[in-house]
Amino acid sequence: QANERESMFLVSEYANTYFIKTLWETEPGKAIALSYFKERGFTDETIKKFGLGFNPNEWEAFTKSALDNGYQLEYLAKTGLTIVKEHAEGETKKFDRFKGRVMFPIHSMSGRVLGFGGRILTNDKKAAKYLNSPESNIYHKSKVLYGIYYAKKAIAKEDRCYLVEGYTDVIQMHQRGIENVVSSSGTALTPEQIRLINRLTKNITVLFDGDAAGLRASLRGIDLILEQGMNVKVCSFPEGEDPDSFAKNNAYEDVVLYLEENAKDFIQFKTSLLAEEAANDPIKRADTVRDIVNSISKIPDQIQKEIYIQECAKIMQISEEVLYNTLAQIDKKGA
Ligand code: CTP
Ligand code: MN
Ligand code: MN
Ligand code: MN
Ligand code: MN
Repeated sequence: QANERESMFLVSEYANTYFIKTLWETEPGKAIALSYFKERGFTDETIKKFGLGFNPNEWEAFTKSALDNGYQLEYLAKTGLTIVKEHAEGETKKFDRFKGRVMFPIHSMSGRVLGFGGRILTNDKKAAKYLNSPESNIYHKSKVLYGIYYAKKAIAKEDRCYLVEGYTDVIQMHQRGIENVVSSSGTALTPEQIRLINRLTKNITVLFDGDAAGLRASLRGIDLILEQGMNVKVCSFPEGEDPDSFAKNNAYEDVVLYLEENAKDFIQFKTSLLAEEAANDPIKRADTVRDIVNSISKIPDQIQKEIYIQECAKIMQISEEVLYNTLAQIDKKGA
C-alpha cells in the first residue's frame, strides 16, 4: 500500500516534468500553450513557479514516453493519467487522459504532485473547460486545496487566508503579490479543506466569482468555516469578474484596497444581500435574521456567539432577547 502510493507519486512527478518540458521545449508547446499563458498575463517566472505545463492533442504521447522510461501501466492507470480500456479480444487500448490541455499540477502541503487540472485552450462550450485527475489513493479532492504549498508561509505570516474558486485565481493573485491564497478548485468547500487552513490561521476571507454560482458557493462556505471556530469574511467582486481578472487588471495597491474596503463579516454580508433585494419587506427581513442566527448557532465559542448576536441586533434592529430565543430554538432543534 505504501509502495503503491509512492509509485503513484513518482509517476505523477514524471508527468509533471514531461508536461513542463513539452510546454517549454516543443513547437506546439511554445506556439499554442506558452502563448496561451502569456495572453492570460502569466510571466515566465510564474509559469515556472507553479509548474504549469502542456500535453498536446495526441492519443498517447505521454503514456508512451512514461512506459519507455520504465513507469508501469498499473500506476499510470491508478493515477488516471492513462485511461486503459479492455476490448473484446483481450486487446487493451491505452490513451492519455489529458489531451490538448494546459496543465496545472496540484500539490500537497509538502509539495508533492497529487494530480492535475487540465484546461482546454479555447472557450469552446462543448468541451469541459477543466478536466481533473480522478479520485485515487493519492488524490482526494475533498482534502486538497490548490496552491496550499505556495501559500502556507504567507497564510501564517499574514494570519489570513484568501479562499478563491479556481486555479488561475490563485496564480494571478500570487503574481500580483498576494500570496496567501488557495482554491477549492470548483468543488464545494469541505470541512477537511477548512481544517488544512485552520492549522495555519483562524481568519478566512472568501473571494468568490462575481456571479450567481460564486454567491451560492460563498454562502455555503460560511457555516462550515464558523463551525470550526474560525472567523469568516466575504468579499464580492463586480459582476462578471473573478479574482483572476481583477488582479490582472489592477495594481497591487488597488487590489489590496479593494479587499480592505469590500470584505464584510458574515452578518454584514448577509445583510447587504437583503439590502440589494428588499430591505423593507418584513418577511424577507425576518428570513435574513433567522438565517444569520442560524449561522451564529454554528459558532462553538460562547463569547463569540454573544458578540455576533449583539452585532446582529444592532444591524437588524431586533432586540437581543428575541435573537437569543431564536438561537435557543435552533439549538434545541439541532440537539
Ligand atoms: N472547474 C472544473 N471543471 C469545470 C469548470 C470549473 O473543475 N468544467 C473548477 C476549476 O478548478 C476552476 C474552478 O472550478 O478553476 C472555477 O471555475 P470557473 O470560475 O468557471 O473557472 P476559472 O477558474 O475562472 O477558469 P478560467 O479563468 O480559466 O476560465
Ligand atoms: Mn486514502
Ligand atoms: Mn466561476
Ligand atoms: Mn472564475
Ligand atoms: Mn477566470
